[in-house]
Amino acid sequence: MRDMARGWRVDGSSIGLVPTMGALHAGHMSLVDAARRENDRVVVSVFVNPIQFGPGEDLARYPRSPERDLSLLRAAGVDAMYKPSVADMYPPSASTRVIVHDVADALEGAARPGHFEGVATVVTKLFAATCADRAYFGQKDAQQVAVIRRLASDLDLAVEIRVCPTVREDDGLALSSRNAYLSQPERQAAVCLSRALGRAFEAYGRGERNPDRLRAILREVIEAEPLAELDYAELVDPLTFSTPGSLAVLAVRVGKTRLIDNHDLRLPYPG
Ligand code: PAJ
Repeated sequence: MRDMARGWRVDGSSIGLVPTMGALHAGHMSLVDAARRENDRVVVSVFVNPIQFGPGEDLARYPRSPERDLSLLRAAGVDAMYKPSVADMYPPSASTRVIVHDVADALEGAARPGHFEGVATVVTKLFAATCADRAYFGQKDAQQVAVIRRLASDLDLAVEIRVCPTVREDDGLALSSRNAYLSQPERQAAVCLSRALGRAFEAYGRGERNPDRLRAILREVIEAEPLAELDYAELVDPLTFSTPGSLAVLAVRVGKTRLIDNHDLRLPYPG
């Protein structure tokens, strides 16, 4: 990968990277479209990164659709799909990890110990392997965005971090590879996340700024859904993830599936 990318760089081409774990959907493809618009060359990495999954998590059953991914990326006109093996990424001799403090500590970081260390390590390696000028991430994973911004800034990485809006189903559910785990009743229940964010947005629009009351609104909508169990509902600063702030973030278990969503209440809410 790196030799091809270096060749592009020598030719003066700009390189856009879209890191993914495959099982591609319209959310991923919106990042690919943005990368296509802004760069001469586009690389999409497809790597289910084992070190960002905790021991009890869904690594083994994480959805995989290699043939479909390849045809979607071909149709989108990407220049390369980078699909390293686990052994290539993490040979037995590898003993370096990238650890981001503070912004990575709360919420997803607390619920999933080691998760952001795995993300930060793989993203640093992907940036290096693809010589990326720009890298594309989804607002859907807001804390991941904040962690990667911190990482790129702290390590002086010459990669511009670009963030694209969350792509949603018609009823508001944020697209996610993990939605495939939901049964039909769970799928209907899962709309409570976007409904809760919409209610908080309406309250913010009416002038509500009290974080406790905004949090209570989020919580009430989730608690009204019998199949859903709230993991956290918070209002955080979108860059530092400290409280309070204008970014409403939610993690909710629907059946056995853990879903996350967020919305910055200062911005228009779709739907
Ligand atoms: P993955 O879950 O495959 O997501 C890849 C990228 O797609 C992430 O930047 C994610 O935020 C974005 N994305 C997912 N759903 C989206 C949606 N509905 N709308 C817009 N963008 C969406 O996130 C990861 O993989 C991994 O942690 C990775 C960054 C690849 C590191 O392993």
